[in-house]
Amino acid sequence: MSSQSDSELSRKAFDRRSFLKGAGGAAAGSVLATNMAGAARAQNGATKVASVAGELPLTFNVNGTDLEVTVEPRTTLLSALRDHCSPPMTGTKLVCDQASCGACTVLVDGEPRLSCLTLARTVARQKVTTIEGVRGAEGRCHPLQETMGECGGSQCGFCTTGFVMAGVALLKKNARPSRAELAEALSGNLCRCTGYIKIFDAFEAAAARLADEQADGSTDPGEAA
Ligand code: FES
Ligand code: FES
Repeated sequence: MSSQSDSELSRKAFDRRSFLKGAGGAAAGSVLATNMAGAARAQNGATKVASVAGELPLTFNVNGTDLEVTVEPRTTLLSALRDHCSPPMTGTKLVCDQASCGACTVLVDGEPRLSCLTLARTVARQKVTTIEGVRGAEGRCHPLQETMGECGGSQCGFCTTGFVMAGVALLKKNARPSRAELAEALSGNLCRCTGYIKIFDAFEAAAARLADEQADGSTDPGEAA
């Protein structure tokens, strides 16, 4: 009985040793696997960091001219225009820098785009239009540039280029927008000075002026952009 108990105890001890060895091996394997995964993540992270560091030569078309700039991959279109172009394109304004005011609006292939929210490298070889590239008939100011001043739609001016760029795109698509359509189209552009009524007046006056110019054949609505 005693020897049987010893044998049983011995078997149990063996089983426990085997289990512990296996468990230990599994645990060690698990730790090793975790470490390897961590190392792989670290390596991937290092690779990602390496891939976004450094500088990037970039060619993009600004107001009809191909410009070559060297920027970090994280550089915004706004920064590329203001800080990396020569001469600097400072007509595009940096105000909120977080995609909430519309002051930095430019056109990319004719569509309004917040340049503070756009990476410069994503517009390579696309056509970028800034306020410096907006023109009216025969090289004059665009009618909306004129009427913003005439109607008091521009006061401190920080928002004005964004409104004009959004407006140039809008008036190309909708030559006589209603007030409701203006409010909808300009809902991403904020003005802290005018109360908007004068801006809407300016848009309506510009639309009328463009229609007159189109009727007498002197311009195409929004031709410059
Ligand atoms: S500066 Fe880009 S949205 Fe305000
Ligand atoms: S004119 Fe000052 S923010 Fe619009």
